[in-house]
Amino acid sequence: MTKAPLAPAESQPWLHQHGREIQAFGTVRQFPLGLSLEARLYSCQRLNRILCDTQILYTLYKKHHWLVRGATFYQLHLLLDKHAGEQLVLVDTLAERVQTLGGVAVGDPRHVAEVTAVPRPPDGVEEVPAMLSRLLEAHEIILAEAHDAAARVARFGDDGTNDLLVSDVIRTGELQEWFLAEHLVDTPLVRADSDGTRSPAG
Ligand SMILES: [Fe+2]
Repeated sequence: MTKAPLAPAESQPWLHQHGREIQAFGTVRQFPLGLSLEARLYSCQRLNRILCDTQILYTLYKKHHWLVRGATFYQLHLLLDKHAGEQLVLVDTLAERVQTLGGVAVGDPRHVAEVTAVPRPPDGVEEVPAMLSRLLEAHEIILAEAHDAAARVARFGDDGTNDLLVSDVIRTGELQEWFLAEHLVDTPLVRADSDGTRSPAG
């Protein structure tokens, strides 16, 4: 009878471990950042809401990157994926700012769904202009929230969070809004509408 080829106990991983929660959501640790506990708590709360909305915006971009169709499929497919990638960078930046302040970043998508203010899209496929409008509205929710949060965290002295919201969240969001909005201008593709009738030349 051959010996089972099992490595000794000291080489085995400890599997199926379950630990207690060591920091509750909504609390902050004492990090010596020159910011009050109140300031850090407030910033984490505002950042987590924007983090959740940004995670939803990222997934909306991916959904529409996959589902978009029609004559502008290729350019929109590429543009929406580019914007998704930029939003994903923001997700990481926002989450790590929460951690930097001693807080707990929202990480689970089911938690994200509970916190976000961005409306849920249908599970099926909308028409492309409705997809783009939905993205514009999601952007505006985040931009309005970020403008308000940026001003309030600055009053608490949290310059780092203010800078992140203005330089990253707001500037990226504004630029992406522009690129999307231009696709919703009903402009002639081939023949200029010089007399306002768009009728074929006689
Ligand atoms: Fe893709």
